[in-house]
Amino acid sequence: MKKPIWIKNIQQLATLASKKEGPRSKEAMSELGIIEDGSLWIEGGIIQAVGSTIELEQRYATRVNEADIVDATSHLVTPGLIDPHTHVAYGGSRAREFEMRLEGVPYMDIMNAGGGIHATTRMTRESTEEELIIQTTKRLDSFMQHGVTTVEGKSGYGMNLETELKQLRVMKHLQENHPIDLVPTFMGAHAVPPDYKGKEEEFVDHLILDMLPVVAEEKLAEFNDVFCEKGVFTPEQSERILEAGKKYGLIPKIHADEIVAYGGAELAAKVGAISAEHLLKASDEGIKAMAKSGTIACLLPATALYLREEAAEGRKMIDEGVAVAISTDCNPGSSPTTSMPLVMNLACILMRLTPAEALTAATYNAACAINRQDRIGSLEVGKQADIALWNVKNYQELQYLFGVNHLKAVWKKGIKVVG
Ligand code: NIG
Ligand code: FE
Repeated sequence: MKKPIWIKNIQQLATLASKKEGPRSKEAMSELGIIEDGSLWIEGGIIQAVGSTIELEQRYATRVNEADIVDATSHLVTPGLIDPHTHVAYGGSRAREFEMRLEGVPYMDIMNAGGGIHATTRMTRESTEEELIIQTTKRLDSFMQHGVTTVEGKSGYGMNLETELKQLRVMKHLQENHPIDLVPTFMGAHAVPPDYKGKEEEFVDHLILDMLPVVAEEKLAEFNDVFCEKGVFTPEQSERILEAGKKYGLIPKIHADEIVAYGGAELAAKVGAISAEHLLKASDEGIKAMAKSGTIACLLPATALYLREEAAEGRKMIDEGVAVAISTDCNPGSSPTTSMPLVMNLACILMRLTPAEALTAATYNAACAINRQDRIGSLEVGKQADIALWNVKNYQELQYLFGVNHLKAVWKKGIKVVG
């Protein structure tokens, strides 16, 4: 039997525990379930007890000697961070495009000229499964080094059945072989491939009739995502794809209103999407509709920064009652980062979230955005022991001392994987 782990003397333990189940909005985003001088008892990969150090010391008095003891004096402990939106399994690099964009070429122009998503699609098609596994493993390792224990990952750099399946199988392999939990999303509708230019409806049919059934049959995805954007997929096409996915049990997500206001937020509410992503240009009506439907806004401030765009109106969304999650959007074009702490800092600086809201957005609400809040996202009895230990004294410092990796250790399902 593996030894129990007792993490004690934690200067600040942010449990994120709350009595209310489900996505948190408004004031609930500031309830971090803080315990000063806290401690956690872990056994069998599961959290067995959460409380003050004194409480657990008394409760486990007869068993303290058999435990691995971690002294977290002067440290912050949080749930392992969760990244609910990435395109992590891709081939190649787009460093040259970064230079082009700095020279002034717009992101969508690069894509329309055959670069951008199309360039990565070519490189992903050319990569073998082994090559993709090696590249993606490096990124997942880096996520873990930044305190992340669960990552959602999208296909979408295939845009043909063969490569979409290749990306999804790579993610399945990594889910089985990497400590990080990788939650798969099918995103065949990431762009219209060049051979379908002018025949967009045909591509939508192909996706619905030929791709979705195979993905569902092989159980390779839980979610279905669409890039609903002017010049990519219209709201009508997006709705068709998402409704078709629902018939196979795939939960809708939408890349919405990123470059122009296009009714994406409204559509997310209409189809009952679990989350809508980006939302830089979301309309007031769209925001209200999301608050009403309970659709989570998954905001990506690093992408806004990287594209030199105004970030989404995170503050306003929270005030309007939308539950907000945040994510890296890790992808080779608009946000090649694996740092969720950076994203939390940017959520504060660019979207005026408070440090407490940013932490909720990167843990509990992020878990909700991938339908995992029953087992991760907070440190509560019975939940997975996915834990991050930080070299700072409190959660405010984690947001305030930006641009530096404060991570000290990570446990994934009770096993120490960093530190
Ligand atoms: O979420 N907006 C569409 N898709 C990605 C970018 C993908 C790429 O540039 O390769 C995103 O930002
Ligand atoms: Fe994305």
